[in-house]
Amino acid sequence: MLGEYHIRERVGKEEIRQQVQRIARDIGNDYRDREPVLIGVLNGVFLFFADLVREMAMPVTIDFVRVASYGPHNVSSGKITFTKDVEVPIKGKPVIIVEDIIDTGLTLSFLVNHIRAREPESVRTCALISKLERREKEISIDYCGFTIEKGFLVGYGLDYNEQFRYLPYIGSLQMGHQSEESLHEN
Ligand code: IMP
Ligand code: MG
Repeated sequence: MLGEYHIRERVGKEEIRQQVQRIARDIGNDYRDREPVLIGVLNGVFLFFADLVREMAMPVTIDFVRVASYGPHNVSSGKITFTKDVEVPIKGKPVIIVEDIIDTGLTLSFLVNHIRAREPESVRTCALISKLERREKEISIDYCGFTIEKGFLVGYGLDYNEQFRYLPYIGSLQMGHQSEESLHEN
């Protein structure tokens, strides 16, 4: 129990470390001598991003974006805007967008389109977790740490109402009286 919540561990610290290393290696092999621009999507990505960048055995450029979504998040009309946009030049550069978790896929598909419009050399996607149950947009995730069928996940950067980001593992928040949909709306 953490306060009034119960969290069930789903992915442990060591397993996370191994996947982060594997992704860093895969990116290293694919982008040898090309210095990709890694763009992290705040806030949830902060721990994954820091660990990933530390594992990279080659030069990379980094930046962050932050987005806000309005309206019901689980409908395709949900409007997404930048609250912090990319600041480093990306035209003609190989870009990798790094996310914490892909749920409906709406955020990532919005980001891919917006970044493509700035004419980078290429755009690839990387996510710590791909969660399948609520996917609406088919979107390819080029580098993926874990695929999880369902649940509301917290820890290792992921939050529920700004709580639990500090946990060193990824766990699912057990619903008491609350439905899973209501967890996503917070
Ligand atoms: P999407 O646009 O539905 O793919 O939403 C992605 C964003 O929703 C993620 O970057 C998270 O910020 C948030 N999110 C979706 N599912 C979860 C979850 O299980 N735990 C914590 N945040 C989540
Ligand atoms: Mg996110």
